Amino acid sequence: MSKVILPEPTEELKELSRQLCACIREELATSGFMPFSRFMEMALYQPGLGYYSAGLHKLGAAGDFVTAAELGSLFAACLAKQVEQIGQKLGRYNILELGAGSGRMAIDLLQQIDPERSPQRYFILERSADLRAVQQQQLAAAVPHWRDRVHWLNQPPTEDWQGVLLANEVIDALAVERFRLGSGEIKQMGVRLANGDSYENPLFEWAYRSAPDYLTFEVEQLQLDCSRPYQSEIQPELASWLATVSAKLKRGVALFVDYGYPRREYYLPERTDGTLICNYRHRAHDGVFFWPGLQDISAFVDFTALAEAGEACGLELSGYTSQTLFLLGCGLDQLLTSRMDAATDHGLSLQAEAKQLTLPGMMGERFQVMALKRDLDEALRGFALGDLSYRL
Ligand SMILES: C[S@@+](CC[C@H](N)C(=O)[O-])C[C@H]1O[C@@H](n2cnc3c(N)ncnc32)[C@H](O)[C@@H]1O
Repeated sequence: MSKVILPEPTEELKELSRQLCACIREELATSGFMPFSRFMEMALYQPGLGYYSAGLHKLGAAGDFVTAAELGSLFAACLAKQVEQIGQKLGRYNILELGAGSGRMAIDLLQQIDPERSPQRYFILERSADLRAVQQQQLAAAVPHWRDRVHWLNQPPTEDWQGVLLANEVIDALAVERFRLGSGEIKQMGVRLANGDSYENPLFEWAYRSAPDYLTFEVEQLQLDCSRPYQSEIQPELASWLATVSAKLKRGVALFVDYGYPRREYYLPERTDGTLICNYRHRAHDGVFFWPGLQDISAFVDFTALAEAGEACGLELSGYTSQTLFLLGCGLDQLLTSRMDAATDHGLSLQAEAKQLTLPGMMGERFQVMALKRDLDEALRGFALGDLSYRL
């Protein structure tokens, strides 16, 4: 990725980053090496200081990036159609949304699901205390009549439930381990102290050490060529995370939307620098050490790994497709047509939103949708136009 010119943060924000850097330095003091997964964890979730925990403007035009749910309400309107189909099959059901961001998708879903088929309860499992407060405020204002039926959880459900688990752009925000190959060796990538204190000259830099056994084992499974220089990411915690969040889902579907690839495309020989991506003020770049805590850091999702993780915890693959095919399968065309008639600006903003969601160069192909099901015998409409499971 070529060098991107990033806006300079304010002094106040830099001070916040310096406090986080002090915590990272403290941990580094013992061994001098911090696995990248730990650095990413601290940069995103260190209480009060990490990117998702510090009360910064993250999502939307005033933040650093825009998700499909933040673009408008078309994405949630299509998702609502898919949820209604599952809800109809199940009868009484709940929704559990993981990582609800600003709460926008929850609001749009609750407003757009046919009241005849609406869930009994809407649960939100949100890791960031700051975002949870934002969600509570937004939902109270936009859907006050749902007040007694929306609940925030501190941990995954502890009682059996049936329904739909939703996660839009959540897996990309889980910490990844980075590895480097070359000269027949597998190295773990991590972070060590450097001397600088700016983007051009950051405080931290990459460090490498022999991969611990568990990482060597995981990377060997990928059967990559270890003789050539190559670095990439892996999510060793994905299977245990999925098993935990879906443990009590006794009947229903878990729907994941994210940017990612099937494994064979994820680890293409030419993708020599992996998929890590940072977002700051709507600029995507690869400078992971830019003012830690002030920018988002994420990695693409290995959807083959997600399907395998599902299988390992008793979830069956129900469908896998591109965001475009999923949205069209859920009736995006018809929704657009009916909304265009009522639009005041000749439908220009709706058209822009639909393009952003579906064009291959925008979100349409980069974003994928996977459904994992348990005890449900129903072909989901979102995958009717093309199930790409054979690519996994
Ligand atoms: C990229 S944002 C996506 C927000 C929202 N889903 C959307 O589409 O606009 C990632 C969200 O996942 C949350 N998150 C990250 N890890 C999580 C976890 N292990 N459990 C629950 N939420 C998590 C973050 O705090 C944030 O709300």
